[in-house]
Amino acid sequence: MSRKPLIAGNWKMNTSIAEAEHLAQAIVRASADLQNREVMIAPPYISLAAVADILADSEVILAAQNICWAEKGAFTGEISPPMLKDIGCRMAIVGHSERRHLFGENDAMINKRISGAMEHGIIPVFCIGETLAEREADNTMKILEDQVRHGLKDISITDAGSIVIAYEPVWAIGTGKTATTKQVQEVHHFLRNLMERLYEKNIASEIRILYGGSVNATNVDELMAQPDVDGALVGGAALDAGSFERIINFQ
Ligand code: PGA
Repeated sequence: MSRKPLIAGNWKMNTSIAEAEHLAQAIVRASADLQNREVMIAPPYISLAAVADILADSEVILAAQNICWAEKGAFTGEISPPMLKDIGCRMAIVGHSERRHLFGENDAMINKRISGAMEHGIIPVFCIGETLAEREADNTMKILEDQVRHGLKDISITDAGSIVIAYEPVWAIGTGKTATTKQVQEVHHFLRNLMERLYEKNIASEIRILYGGSVNATNVDELMAQPDVDGALVGGAALDAGSFERIINFQ
């Protein structure tokens, strides 16, 4: 079992093109000597081309914040897998809670986005997470299982292992409240077992499960020390070059 840790920065709707370029330059410098770990950044669509140029000679992975399922056509406001490939994206975030909760994306749509990405060799970072009400009602595992089952519907065993899952409790995103390491490990362990139930042991031990929700320079080491945490999806702290540098250098 060797799962290479992945630290992913989700810039959300932040940065002008010039700011995106500066941040990307700092991240390329900071990650030049990193070993045994991967770094991914997801700038806003309008900065992808500029950031792609900056990442060209580095190992940093370019990602989109979403991806359409169709190749082209009447899908106003969407960007297709071939377009993202063309610009240099190797990964795409799918099903982020802001897409689910602010823009009404549902499991069926997210499933189509995951399939569309996989068909074109783009690795989806498939986000799932429970709300505070769902956690308080003791429904966390059921909600997460439903999200995984629907999101990965008809995803083949050959594809399943390369997908990245990001567990992001909705109540921990952008709130400064991180789930405790015990809560995170418990969920990640459950998700890995679920992947074994849905696919097989090899897939469960290969798949990378990231944690997201107020990850920062101070809590990253403890989170990454959990046996089933294979990386982090970082929002706010990914916008500050110094913090992100510390995060990618987790111990
Ligand atoms: P946050 O965002 O680190 O600002 O909580 C995480 C995310 O939404 O991916």
